[in-house]
Amino acid sequence: MTQVFELTVNGGPVRVETHPDTSLLHVLREELGLKGARFGCGVGLCGACFVRLDGQVVPSCDTPIWSAAGKTVVTVEGLAPGDALHRVQQAFLDEQAAQCGYCISGIMVSAADLLDKNPAPDERAVIEALDRNLCRCGVQRRAVRAVLAATEVTG
Ligand code: FES
Ligand code: FES
Repeated sequence: MTQVFELTVNGGPVRVETHPDTSLLHVLREELGLKGARFGCGVGLCGACFVRLDGQVVPSCDTPIWSAAGKTVVTVEGLAPGDALHRVQQAFLDEQAAQCGYCISGIMVSAADLLDKNPAPDERAVIEALDRNLCRCGVQRRAVRAVLAATEVTG
């Protein structure tokens, strides 16, 4: 049976009617049209679907909507506060740190979370922060370089 759930997504209130076990990822992509978070493994192991839920990075594929109700979600689309890109997004562009791009939104969510909690991470801290984000194309080195570059940018 469906239920109504209310949450905040990228700064705005959202109301969805769906089955309680529907994944947050499904709601974001199919109900709200936010296609940045991707479906990779579906079991919380690859990071393609990562979003921030009340300030913690979580796999939205493995988060039922009932557990997100009343909480605040930030997706890759919501990382930047305004029209300008978030410094991590800008750094990924500047460093051309993507190939197919399937993993990149999840990586940027992890990176933005890291910089919020540790504005000046060293390389080891960046590698550890991105450890749960898998990339089949092998952009890991460029992703780490982009995050380190973002630490040198104010914003
Ligand atoms: S699709 Fe969610 S962690 Fe892989
Ligand atoms: S750039 Fe293709 S999966 Fe990471």
